[in-house]
Amino acid sequence: MSQQGRPYLAIPGPSVIPEKVLNAMHRPSPDIYKGELHEVTASLIPDLQKIAQTESKVAIYIANGHGAWEAAIANTLSYGEHVLVLATGRFAFGWGEIAENLGINLTTVDFGKSEGIDLEKIEEILRKDIDRKFKAILVAHTDTSTSIKTDLKQLRDCMNKSQHSAMLFADCIASLGTDCFRMDDWGVDLMISACQKGLMTPPGLSFVWFNEKAQQARSQKNKVSSYWDWTPRTEVKRYYQYFCGTAPTHHIYGLRTALDMMVNENNLENIWQKHIDLSSAIWAAFDRWSHFGNIELNVKEESLRSNAVTAASISEGGAKKLQDWCEKNSDLTLGIGLGMADQEDEKIHNYFRIGHMGHINATMVLGVISTIDVALKALNIPHGQNALDAASKKLSESYSV
Ligand SMILES: Cc1ncc(COP(=O)(O)O)c(C=O)c1O
Repeated sequence: MSQQGRPYLAIPGPSVIPEKVLNAMHRPSPDIYKGELHEVTASLIPDLQKIAQTESKVAIYIANGHGAWEAAIANTLSYGEHVLVLATGRFAFGWGEIAENLGINLTTVDFGKSEGIDLEKIEEILRKDIDRKFKAILVAHTDTSTSIKTDLKQLRDCMNKSQHSAMLFADCIASLGTDCFRMDDWGVDLMISACQKGLMTPPGLSFVWFNEKAQQARSQKNKVSSYWDWTPRTEVKRYYQYFCGTAPTHHIYGLRTALDMMVNENNLENIWQKHIDLSSAIWAAFDRWSHFGNIELNVKEESLRSNAVTAASISEGGAKKLQDWCEKNSDLTLGIGLGMADQEDEKIHNYFRIGHMGHINATMVLGVISTIDVALKALNIPHGQNALDAASKKLSESYSV
């Protein structure tokens, strides 16, 4: 088949970048010492707060998500302190590893790769922590490897019930701008995210939002590395403090445009609803495919599924065959399995993920579903019928006038 038409990267981030964002970045270098760039940078802050539904401060880093992970720990915790890590996939472990390398002691509870967190178990752990050694709980709102979404409001209620003083730290890299998230209402003390998924901007910026309680933890620290310290970045007296050096000039314009698309030309509720509608269509298709053969959604319980990414499996290497076929014949790139088996293990070829976050619409999602349907037929992978019909029916219900 000819390789014409637009390629489509349907992996769970980096996501599709809108033309408007690309065009906003395509400009001569702006002056970093004065002028428009300073105003544009300052204008990002209130919109980043809106996106996170918070009045908390936000620090911006020229870094990927790993940088924000490190910034969160570096500002709030000290060598020898303890955190509780709640793992529903690879990414919570990743955040824990960053903390551990900064000298933090971890207690990690692994809830597996397909189930949600067990609140009773967490409550028990917190109640038993008489000395209140846990300073923070680290959790991924959506773990992108498994596509499990954690109910942060319920988690906060559980923490309150056990009257534990730990701060709640959430990784919203996959969920911000895709799934409902309300930092202040839900009692999240610190949240990190990055620009390359729901925020539709090329990778390179990440963020830490922190409330008063997290700020108190920062104030108790004597020293924080100059680069990660959020204080100068949020109490800016000179422009260069925003980024501890040269500003990410073009990213600032890209992000400005992406935020305009999200909060000025649209609103968050609409964006969250769009992600619900589109992910429901994908799951409707899987529901049919999985009637026959070995195709399975990773997360069986619908309320635990992310609206930004769907992890699934096809045994006997079927997932890898599907990915290869889609890329070769249709320029569609699906996400690889991550954290479901060792990356060197053959079994990893049984897993794949679909990213459905950010700048997407029904046409694009139906394209993904249809291409997968064609691939399953072309590859003779056993599957249930009428997936397209189920997806289109679901969408017609969502979009009915
Ligand atoms: C939930 C989550 N946390 C953290 C990260 C790490 O972010 P980065 O790869 O930008 O460092 C990712 C990346 O996909 C992620 O999905």
